[in-house]
Amino acid sequence: MIGVFDSGVGGLSVFGEIIKLLPNESITYYADSANCPYGTKSKEEIILLCSDITHRLIEAGCTIITVACNTATSAAIAHLRSNFDLPFVGIEPAVKPAALKSRTGTVGVLATEGTLKSDSFNKTRELFAGNVRVISTVGAGLVELVERGETGTPAAEKLLRKYLEPMMSEGVDNLVLGCTHYPFLSDEIRKITGEAIQQINPAPAVAQQVQRLAERHGLLSSSDDKPEYQFISSDGTCVLARMAASIVGEKAKYTVRSLR
Ligand code: DGL
Repeated sequence: MIGVFDSGVGGLSVFGEIIKLLPNESITYYADSANCPYGTKSKEEIILLCSDITHRLIEAGCTIITVACNTATSAAIAHLRSNFDLPFVGIEPAVKPAALKSRTGTVGVLATEGTLKSDSFNKTRELFAGNVRVISTVGAGLVELVERGETGTPAAEKLLRKYLEPMMSEGVDNLVLGCTHYPFLSDEIRKITGEAIQQINPAPAVAQQVQRLAERHGLLSSSDDKPEYQFISSDGTCVLARMAASIVGEKAKYTVRSLR
């Protein structure tokens, strides 16, 4: 069983890629919506929350865990790896491919405050994007908007314009979606930027890493049985259930429950 967690529903963008690549694997998805957003929390708080979620996922039978949250990865994955005896896969803003693809020499990164301030992001940026200009912007309010199921609304467009228009004036041609909630705003981003900006989402690469690591540890299911998906929320399940239904559809059996 693969465990996937996020501060909320955003990690479903990673879950969607994992089920495309590994359609026989059962998955437990944990949305910590009661504690969302993580982006403004301290590293210590995030480590405590992620450790608690990891215990729960192990109890649910998970043998490999995907931290489907950039903020949680940058704050807590090192701690999780040294304190739990199972493989973890994390997600980080994909600045390297953005820098490699850029023709204007200016790339944008939209992420949470926690991610942009983290050592891991700043090291990656120095290492792989030293030759381009990086415009980093905190997407304040975007995570909450997706959590409320308010994608496709005028409020979403207004907030996105505030973050994207300055990037467009600076000549950004590749935009890193540095938070797993943002792919759910992808169509609206495209509406604003047109084809002038290419969006970079590392979720497919994360799914490939889950596959590699699960294979290496002999954790993939050996049967062709249909997988089962379990969605757990530490808060209400209204938006989680709606999004899970649109991603899973009729493909598999699944349950959604709240811990509230
Ligand atoms: N999906 C999380 C991420 O990738 C959102 C963090 C938050 O809750 O602020 O960073």
